[in-house]
Amino acid sequence: MSARTVLPLVTAVTAVVVLATGCTSTKNTGSGGSGVALVKEGKLTTCTHLPYEPFQFRKDNKVVGFDVDIVDLVAKELGVTQEIVDTPFEGIQTGEDLNAGKCDLAAAGMTITAVREQNLDFSGPYFDATQALIAKKGSPYTSLASLKGKKLGVQQGTTGETYAKKNGAGVETVQFEDVALLLTAVKTGQVDAGINDNGVLFEYVRKNADTAVTAEFDTGEKYGIGVKTGNTALRQEIDKAVKAARADGRYDAIYKKWFPAAPKKQ
Ligand code: ARG
Repeated sequence: MSARTVLPLVTAVTAVVVLATGCTSTKNTGSGGSGVALVKEGKLTTCTHLPYEPFQFRKDNKVVGFDVDIVDLVAKELGVTQEIVDTPFEGIQTGEDLNAGKCDLAAAGMTITAVREQNLDFSGPYFDATQALIAKKGSPYTSLASLKGKKLGVQQGTTGETYAKKNGAGVETVQFEDVALLLTAVKTGQVDAGINDNGVLFEYVRKNADTAVTAEFDTGEKYGIGVKTGNTALRQEIDKAVKAARADGRYDAIYKKWFPAAPKKQ
């Protein structure tokens, strides 16, 4: 899935400098560290939109998931702990939350797109995805064409919504604020099918045997972690942490933990 260049894993705890108003530089060049300004001292604050299992969801009152573990790698590298803010996807994908200083980064199973690149900066890709269809088991809806005149549930502000609107001529899209509402609507027959990312849908059908993934569209999406436009210091820390984890097996361990049934990606 990506280059496997080995980088030394930086474990040194770095002093965290919070930018005072008017300051323009916080570069800390001490012992291999990096001066990354954080919105809350001692914390790496993550914006995400729950639930998006297995990337981020609540379990036993804790937010856990693939993305949570990936961001923990970055927090560890910075010598801080991760704090998660649950907020609507719209504010995340438009860069609004990052610009408002609500969080340092956005990790939300978010696809890197050209439009979003204009409003925030992305880390390098850390996960591959495609759009997929979910319907009741045995249903005839195996393509967008088959949904002509039917109701297709989409999640607001997502690449699935964009894909359905662009490619689903004559399909009636029904918008849901989050994927849990969308999936319940599919299960209860409120909509005929739903469109969303394959990883999330496969996890749902694994636990809901009355539903099935009926199609996958090769959209070639890649997830990236978002930072405020110009926050190169943090973006580079993210890339460094992910690269090191890919090289030493920690990325694969996280992958297996959240996708135990999936064939190993390379
Ligand atoms: N990958 C899709 C997108 O970027 C869906 C992401 C939805 N994520 C979430 N946490 N609700 O548009």
